[in-house]
Amino acid sequence: MPKVIRSSRATPQHTRVGDASSILKRFYIFERQLMRALAGWYIQTPGVELKFFLGGEQWLSSQHADSLRARVLELRYPRRDVDKKWDQDLLVFMDELLKAANLSEFLAGVYDVALAALRDEIQEYLDRTDPLDDAPTVYRLRHIAYDTATRIEQMHLLEQPDATDTSEWRDYLSQRLASIGGLSGLHERDAAPIDPGRPGFQVQRSARRDPRFRTARFHLPHENKYDKAGAAAWKRIESLDKRVAMQVWSAISHFNEIWAGEAPASVLFDLSGEPWDFYLDLSRWIWDETRHSMMGYRAMQGWGWDVPSLIPYGDALYNALGPMPPAQRLALLYYFEEGLLRSGTKQVELKILEASGDDGSAHDMDYDWADEAIHVGYGFKWLRHLLGDDNAGQAELTRLTDEARAIFADYVKAHKDDEEAKLAPYFERLYDVVAQMTLDVPEDGLEIQWAPVVADQAVLEDL
Ligand SMILES: [Fe+2]
Ligand SMILES: [Fe+2]
Repeated sequence: MPKVIRSSRATPQHTRVGDASSILKRFYIFERQLMRALAGWYIQTPGVELKFFLGGEQWLSSQHADSLRARVLELRYPRRDVDKKWDQDLLVFMDELLKAANLSEFLAGVYDVALAALRDEIQEYLDRTDPLDDAPTVYRLRHIAYDTATRIEQMHLLEQPDATDTSEWRDYLSQRLASIGGLSGLHERDAAPIDPGRPGFQVQRSARRDPRFRTARFHLPHENKYDKAGAAAWKRIESLDKRVAMQVWSAISHFNEIWAGEAPASVLFDLSGEPWDFYLDLSRWIWDETRHSMMGYRAMQGWGWDVPSLIPYGDALYNALGPMPPAQRLALLYYFEEGLLRSGTKQVELKILEASGDDGSAHDMDYDWADEAIHVGYGFKWLRHLLGDDNAGQAELTRLTDEARAIFADYVKAHKDDEEAKLAPYFERLYDVVAQMTLDVPEDGLEIQWAPVVADQAVLEDL
């Protein structure tokens, strides 16, 4: 008869490598699909602060997804392929989260149901697992648990979008989650609730802006060559001093970079089946452009401005590229970003801001420049991936970019007479505010030669 001695210790259920990797894979799918859902609702959300929040949140989910994915690959690499054979029940649940009727429901579903479940189920995992054998997972999950608790708290600190009663939606999602055994799949499965049959989520191709602002198509005179009065009103601000104009320009321009976050968010949402790094890079791109917008907002608040009443918050750039296919949206964004770096615009802007003694704006521009250099790498890499790494791919990139610029030019032409396209009233109001704030500084002999990167070169004649 075979002989053994007793087990050195007892081990709980669901803690072997196979269990760990399948649970962590479900957590990975959850965070990855959450990143996509947050990107979709980021576009959907008009309120400035809530949009900023969602821009950061989608990136946080991408970081968690990346950490979980790396651990799954360690546990069963290469047998378990993390990017295939996803649990269908979990995917259906994540699709349901997207179908919130409004932002209040979306936040309640994501934070009070889904992320609250993740927080609890991570704790269950940590309580169950062997901290020695599974130490690398413990390290990762402790960090994700900390972030998850923090993000739930932060959501509740936000000024909520409206007073909608979300209890029915939360109950439905909780039951739905219980019917798939929770995020880990380990919980007892309850009966599925009745599907309310809500329509699938569609990403907005036309952005709505914060209702506290006046509706505006454009934000600075370089976008619209037809707005001669706007350009003239801007010249008046410039007449105060080119340094002052750059301080104001960079803040308005940064704040309006939100479209450059919305564009990759729409691509991230639309394209499935790309390599994981594609989503990771786009997610960072979205967060960076959101941060740039936050930089502009913070600078203007720092000057004590009533931003919604003074500043144009344009919708043209996102809305013009709404009908374009995903690669073309990226191509237009890449055109602007690559142009900025190639022409050294950022360095010149930084130099002027430093000469202004505006430490805050110079600090922002310094980091913006660092981010933009990364984005040019993303654009280069992923456009080659999407279009092909050969002459045909290069020709297609040029064609898509030229066509995108033409689409934008047509959009400008079609909207040039809109009341919302007129910038002069903004710059006139702003002139009065800025003129009162000017300070004398010693002559520094600064030579200013600067031009923005534009879709339509003809605009530069008037600037
Ligand atoms: Fe930017
Ligand atoms: Fe950028």
